[in-house]
Amino acid sequence: MQKQQLLYKGKAKSVFETDDSDLLILQFRDDTSAFNGERIEQLARKGEVNNRFNAFVMQKLSEAGIETHFEQQLSDDEVLVKRLDMIPVECVVRNFAAGSLVRRLGLEEGQALNPPTYELFYKDDALGDPMINESLSVSLGWATEAQLSAMKDLTYRVNDVLQALFDKGDLMLVDFKLEFGVFHDRIVLGDEFSPDGCRIWDKNTKKKLDKDRFRQSLGDVIEGYEEVAKRIGVPLS
Ligand code: TMP
Repeated sequence: MQKQQLLYKGKAKSVFETDDSDLLILQFRDDTSAFNGERIEQLARKGEVNNRFNAFVMQKLSEAGIETHFEQQLSDDEVLVKRLDMIPVECVVRNFAAGSLVRRLGLEEGQALNPPTYELFYKDDALGDPMINESLSVSLGWATEAQLSAMKDLTYRVNDVLQALFDKGDLMLVDFKLEFGVFHDRIVLGDEFSPDGCRIWDKNTKKKLDKDRFRQSLGDVIEGYEEVAKRIGVPLS
């Protein structure tokens, strides 16, 4: 597999073309951003930790029958993925109240949500990823009803698999965000899964072990990610 030119530089990952038009290489960088790119810092080891974390989770999802873009980990910070036609809609499941839901409704952080809630956001940094709904997504041509239904079903299935995985490590999966794309007419999970895009708390102490440590300047950000990785069995170098 030949790595070719840079296609796109995202906030935390760079995307490269390959000599196969169906495949891309993602490079996880140490850049860490918050507030839609307003604050960016370098955190040592983050690229490598997230690459290993993501590869481990993608394998668990694939074993559970969920098709993802993940093909193969190529190096410490690179992964080979399927090239999807991305849908600009972010799918969020919440098992406990946190973040924007707490701000929007004035809920107490940590309140259990039974059953878990499902929300959609439009992927647009300039607009601050505004909340949207299925109707708008169809009207504006971002996705069909059938695609949105598949995305919802897959996001809840991911929640089931990962809640069980984190629970075994005495961790709470508070919420997470996923993006999907189309690959040869199929809806496929096209996002990394790492502590950058979810909230994970220690079950007993409720200590935050995810990107909120960066957003809220709590310190020991990557130490938190490594703690989660260790508890769920991710092999770190
Ligand atoms: P929120 O509470 O800010 O709406 O975020 C809910 C979850 O989704 C949280 O785990 C962070 C994640 N998320 C992202 O990673 N990127 C995004 O652009 C959005 C909207 C949420």
